Amino acid sequence: MPRARSAAARVTIHDLAHMAASGRRIVAVTAYTAAEARCCDDAGADLILVGDSLGRVVLGLPDELGVTMEDMERHTAAVARGARRALTAADLPFLAYQADPAEAVRNAGRLVRAGAAAVKIEGGAGRVETVRRILDAGIPVIGHLGFTPQSIRRFGGPRVQARGEAEAASLLADARALAAAGCSAIVLEMVPAAVAAQVTRSVSPPTIGIGAGAGCAGQILVLYDVVGLSERRPRFARPYADLAQGMRDAVAAYARDVRAGTFPGPEHTHDGRSWGGPAEEAQR
Ligand code: KIV
Repeated sequence: MPRARSAAARVTIHDLAHMAASGRRIVAVTAYTAAEARCCDDAGADLILVGDSLGRVVLGLPDELGVTMEDMERHTAAVARGARRALTAADLPFLAYQADPAEAVRNAGRLVRAGAAAVKIEGGAGRVETVRRILDAGIPVIGHLGFTPQSIRRFGGPRVQARGEAEAASLLADARALAAAGCSAIVLEMVPAAVAAQVTRSVSPPTIGIGAGAGCAGQILVLYDVVGLSERRPRFARPYADLAQGMRDAVAAYARDVRAGTFPGPEHTHDGRSWGGPAEEAQR
């Protein structure tokens, strides 16, 4: 049953730190449409990220690299219209921030105008200047370390990062640099649980893990992995539903009824006079 859509206070970027400090784990999930955001919000998600996973899971692209600012603006606006309580954050897509901090500020501003309360960027110490410039424009920034999908060509695929001692130390240094630059939270993707837990203990912004064990301050998953709509689900994700099968079953039942002539029934057919009263008419 959906929770009543009351005017619950909106989660702010500062609430993430308060949640972590009080030991309440942050629940984050991606969403791409207003309907998905409404469901995630009703279910009590604290943070909804309009991820650039949009490219793979919604647009059918092979990876995140083809996602544009226009894609992100459109889907951020849709999610912001659907979410009432959850904080809405959005990914700056590939090449929207890497080349030039001034361009990063302008693009972050476009996502804020579309409805994002914060933006996420990938990368560590090399992003400090960019984080500072975006923050200087009044826009909260979430960092992203470990496996960073926009660098998939460099990694050669979605691979666990920071496995060795030197790599783990470098990830910790990156997390410290992002924290010092003012990031409000740091996503840790596909890193060993012990490394993620150490980062979580060592920096003040809350860490949000994905494939990084239970020692982070919160967790994030791609919505389509949670609800069973992805073509390929990573090993670290747990499906809580099988919506793909639910959709197949529903459309197959509809097709059967259309072919049998049993849909539309009289209740779906306008008789030329009325159709369920003005409220229902208004929804058409
Ligand atoms: O694009 C995305 O979905 C992400 C995640 C951290 C899940 O960046």
